[in-house]
Amino acid sequence: MSFSAIAKRSFSSAQFRKPVIALMSGSTREGSVNTQLIYAAEIVAKGLGAETKVLDLGNYDMPVYNQDFEATSGLPKAAQQLKAELESADGWIVASPEYNGFVTPLLVNALTWCSRGDPDGEMYATFKGKSAVVLSASPGAMGGMRSLNPNRELLTNLGVSVLPDSVAVGGAFGAFDDSGTLSNDKQKAMLQAAVEKLYYQGRDVANREATCNMIKTHLVGQYGEAGVA
Ligand SMILES: Cc1cc2nc3c(=O)[nH]c(=O)nc-3n(C[C@H](O)[C@H](O)[C@H](O)COP(=O)(O)O)c2cc1C
Repeated sequence: MSFSAIAKRSFSSAQFRKPVIALMSGSTREGSVNTQLIYAAEIVAKGLGAETKVLDLGNYDMPVYNQDFEATSGLPKAAQQLKAELESADGWIVASPEYNGFVTPLLVNALTWCSRGDPDGEMYATFKGKSAVVLSASPGAMGGMRSLNPNRELLTNLGVSVLPDSVAVGGAFGAFDDSGTLSNDKQKAMLQAAVEKLYYQGRDVANREATCNMIKTHLVGQYGEAGVA
């Protein structure tokens, strides 16, 4: 019996699910080109079959991180909500403007709060097992590309597997067409490739348990013996 026949016979589709991709812009500026890039990436992710959720940092109002504040007041509600949203996604797409060669304070602050508040022994729980793609956009020619490495480094320090593909969109004030996608074919292809890799990674993560169960139960048995099916 073929693998797909076993899958059809033995598993309801409820056990397998679409990957959920969370998308977040490091800018809340009205007309932000990084937010536009996030929506362009969302179009690609949806086209691949992902479920998506755009997390607008403007909806998560948090004070600048301060350890004394945390000690007396704990995690702000907004940080708890953002953590929960990020945790429930299988992969993340994070775009940030380049501010003085770095990512934005808004993004650093949000991620700093999200790095806190886990039970003892579970540091960085929000970030565990997550994969991400980092993006940037700028009206400048270099597309804010100096923000990519700090973005990558910060997420990696927190335990995220940041995929090698990234996209920096230069001349971003004129980079998007009316439908919200990138007009430049080369940039479009790079975004497609990056989001595709994240989608497949996220799909594996989302269905890892169901896939392992199917293989164990129907293909090789609990202890690896062949021919159980
Ligand atoms: C504090 C600050 C620093 C900036 N530094 C850079 C920079 O280093 N490189 C760059 O390309 N643009 C820089 N810019 C310009 C931003 O790329 C531009 O404002 C961009 O539109 C911000 O992204 P957004 O449209 O997503 O908000 C800076 C802007 C600000 C406000």
